[in-house]
Amino acid sequence: MSRLIVVSNRVSPPNAAGEETVGGLAMALASALREYSGLWFGWSGKTTPQFTGALDIQTVEGVTTALVDLEEADLDEYYNGYANKTLWPLFHYRIDLTAYDRIYGEGYSRVNRRFAETLAPLVKPDDLIWVHDYHLIPLARELRALGLKNRIGFFLHIPWPAHQVFTTLPGHKRLVEAMFEYDLVGFQTEEYAQAFEDYVLSEAGGQQPATDRLHAFGRTLRVGAFPIGIDAPKFAQMLRSPRARRMRDLMTAATVFRYLVVGVDRLDYSKGLEERFIGYERFLADNPHLRREVLMLQIAPVSREKVEAYQEIRQRLDALSGRINGEYADVDWNPFRYVNKNYRRDELAGIYAAARVGLVTPLRDGMNLVAKEFVAAQNPEDPGVLILSRFAGAARQMGEALLVNPNSPEEIAEALKRAIGMDKPERIRRWRALFNKVEREDVTAWRDAFVGALAGTGARRTALAG
Ligand code: G6P
Repeated sequence: MSRLIVVSNRVSPPNAAGEETVGGLAMALASALREYSGLWFGWSGKTTPQFTGALDIQTVEGVTTALVDLEEADLDEYYNGYANKTLWPLFHYRIDLTAYDRIYGEGYSRVNRRFAETLAPLVKPDDLIWVHDYHLIPLARELRALGLKNRIGFFLHIPWPAHQVFTTLPGHKRLVEAMFEYDLVGFQTEEYAQAFEDYVLSEAGGQQPATDRLHAFGRTLRVGAFPIGIDAPKFAQMLRSPRARRMRDLMTAATVFRYLVVGVDRLDYSKGLEERFIGYERFLADNPHLRREVLMLQIAPVSREKVEAYQEIRQRLDALSGRINGEYADVDWNPFRYVNKNYRRDELAGIYAAARVGLVTPLRDGMNLVAKEFVAAQNPEDPGVLILSRFAGAARQMGEALLVNPNSPEEIAEALKRAIGMDKPERIRRWRALFNKVEREDVTAWRDAFVGALAGTGARRTALAG
C-alpha cells in the first residue's frame, strides 16, 4: 500500500496529554496517518534567524511528524501576509480587508519552495501526497519542479469565492494554474467546486471533459466536493468522559431556570460575531419578558494577533459585549458572558450538551465543525436547537437547523426567540435528521473518499507507482 504524506501549515500531532486538546481535523489526519502509515509535514510554529531546512522528526502514538522552522520574514510575508491578509479575507468575500502587496506574494512563493525542497527528500516514488489549505496552493508546482511524479491531492478547507471576487486578486491566473499541478482538488461543497469550474471555463479558457474533470493549462485535473465532518465515534466517547460531564453539570448549575445560548469561534471577522452580538442585543430589546431567562456564552479564543484586522475586530467586540451587559445586566444577573480563553474539546462538548441553543452564524465559512459538534453533543430526549448561517458550508447538509442570514441581526433575534420557544417534538424531529447526517458523513468518510479518489487518479503521470 502507498504511504500517505500529509502536508499542512499547522501540524498538531497527538500529545501525551491525550487527543482531547487537539482539533477534530488533527485527530482525523492522525488516524489516517496511523492507518496508511507515512508522515505529517509542516511548520513547527517556531522561527529561526536563518532558514536551514533542518527537520524535527518525531513519532508520537504511531504518528510521525516532520517539522521545519521558518524565518521571521517568512512568517510576516507568507503566514501573516499572503495567507492571512490576502487569501483569507478575499476567499471570505472581504475585499475591503484584502491587502495586495508584492512582497507578500514573494514570501508565499518562497516558503512554498522551501517546504517543497525540505519535503522532497523524504518522499518515496509511490507515496500519496495530500496538501491542505490556502497556505500551500503552489506546493505541487514546486514539488513537480523538483521532479516529483507522485499523485498529489489538494483540499481547500475554506470557501472558493465567486469568479467576480476571485478575479480581483492580482495574479489570479497563476494561482489557478498552480492548482493544475495537482491530480485531485477537493472543496468543501458543490458550490465552491462550481465556482472554481466557472473560473476555469470562463477565465482560463478551460474545458470540462467529464463532470469531475477540468482541462486547462495543458493539464487535466479531477475536481470534487468532499464535505468534511467530525470524528463522530471519538466525539461520542469524549462526551461520556468525566471532564465533559463535569463541565455539563457546571454549566447546567450556572444556568438554572435559564436557557444557555452558546457560540464558539476563533476570534475572526469571518465568523459574524459583531452581527451575532447585535442580534442577541436585539433579542433582549424586543423580548423584555425573556430577558432573565437566557444567558448567552460566547467563547472566542484570540487568533492571528499580528494582523491588524484581528486587533480591530477584537476591540469592537470588547466594546459591544460591554455595551450589552451595561444596558441589560442587573445586580444579581447578567445576560452575556464573553470569554477569550481556549478550552479543551472535551470541555466544549460538555458546554454544548448543557446548551439550549447553538448559535453558529459566520458570514462565510468553508464548513464549520462547531455546528456538527453541537448537534453531536445533544441529549436525544431533549435536544437543543442549532441556529446556522446559510453561508456556512455546513448549511448544505444541515437544512433542518434554523437557517439565518448572518448579516441580519433581526433574523438572528427572531431565530433565537423561535429556538427558545420550540416544543420538544419539533426539536427532536429536527435534531434526529441532523444527527443522522453528522454521524454518517463523518471525518472518516471524508478522509476515505478523498484518499480513495486520489489513489484512483494517476493515469496522467505514468512514471509513478514505482
Ligand atoms: C482555519 C484554516 C486552517 C487554520 C485554522 C486556524 O480553520 O482553514 O488552515 O489552521 O483556521 O488558524 P491558524 O492561523 O491559527 O492556523
